[in-house]
Amino acid sequence: MKPLNDIYGRQFKTLRVSLLNRCNLSCVYCTMGEDVAKPEKEEPTALTASELLTIITNLHTLLSFSTIRLTGGEPLLYHDLIPIIEGLNKNGLHNIKLTTNGFLLERMAVDLVAAGLKSINVSLDAIDENMFALMSKRGNIQRILNGIDAAIDAGLHVKLNAVIMKGINESQVLPLLQFAFDRNISIRFLEVMSMGHLHQQPKKYLVTQQELLHIIAQQYQFEPCHRQHAATANYWQTTTGHQFGIIANESAPFCGDCDRLRLDSKGQIYGCLSSNHPIPIANVQQPEQLQACLQEAMQQKQTLQFTGSNLSMLDIGG
Ligand code: 5AD
Repeated sequence: MKPLNDIYGRQFKTLRVSLLNRCNLSCVYCTMGEDVAKPEKEEPTALTASELLTIITNLHTLLSFSTIRLTGGEPLLYHDLIPIIEGLNKNGLHNIKLTTNGFLLERMAVDLVAAGLKSINVSLDAIDENMFALMSKRGNIQRILNGIDAAIDAGLHVKLNAVIMKGINESQVLPLLQFAFDRNISIRFLEVMSMGHLHQQPKKYLVTQQELLHIIAQQYQFEPCHRQHAATANYWQTTTGHQFGIIANESAPFCGDCDRLRLDSKGQIYGCLSSNHPIPIANVQQPEQLQACLQEAMQQKQTLQFTGSNLSMLDIGG
């Protein structure tokens, strides 16, 4: 079979799986004012855990992933999450990570570790209760903060993701940094990406990497760190000995060495967040056919920059 490199030497080494397209928060960047946290029912087309495991294992046989990240929607709402993690481990995928909003984390952290989860990214766009409610249309931020502490106590490697939006939550940058530094955990600020409803107004809410650094410089001095291969974030080290990152999709894109493949909850793959063209693989049995689908996905990768998509992360996965 032909090797799956593109002309830039890119390979698929990280798989991101969106387990379901439901979420229990309604964050402003994913939704346009509507409350998606109360959907009618799970999509009838969503795959079962064993169907998903079969697809993932077939992909892994061809691509030998180094990392798998479970996302959604909100992956902690997926009721077979523990069997999925156990199954992945059994099938040779040991570096398992997960991205969550943390709302259900406090009660699940210990079980997630026992199933074999290693690392978790928690999305936290505010520390202030009112700002959190404005961003997510939910109260009770304390549940998430407790969830973060429970994850740390359970032995998970924890990172925070904070999306900063112009005119909304810039005031949260320094308090969020303080929260992370107090716990010695890594934090990354995300430039807002033109996805879903934001695709029509790409720059309206953008706080650039430069502007984020400017805010952080009000309180800290810092030096840039060396960028790791295929990393999404640029990192800086403060003179206080802490690190923070910025995921600068818009102002410093990182497509050039991207190694990510996405699988959604309907069994469709995407080679790039900028693509809204799903490639269905749920019924693809032959390795040659799967290889052809992967080649098509590889061609979706952008070379220079993220161009956006009308799919939100709820659909395509974070
Ligand atoms: N722009 C930037 N970040 C986003 N996320 C979801 N949608 C967007 C967007 N439009 C974030 C989530 C999560 C991560 C995977 O991506 O908050 O932390």
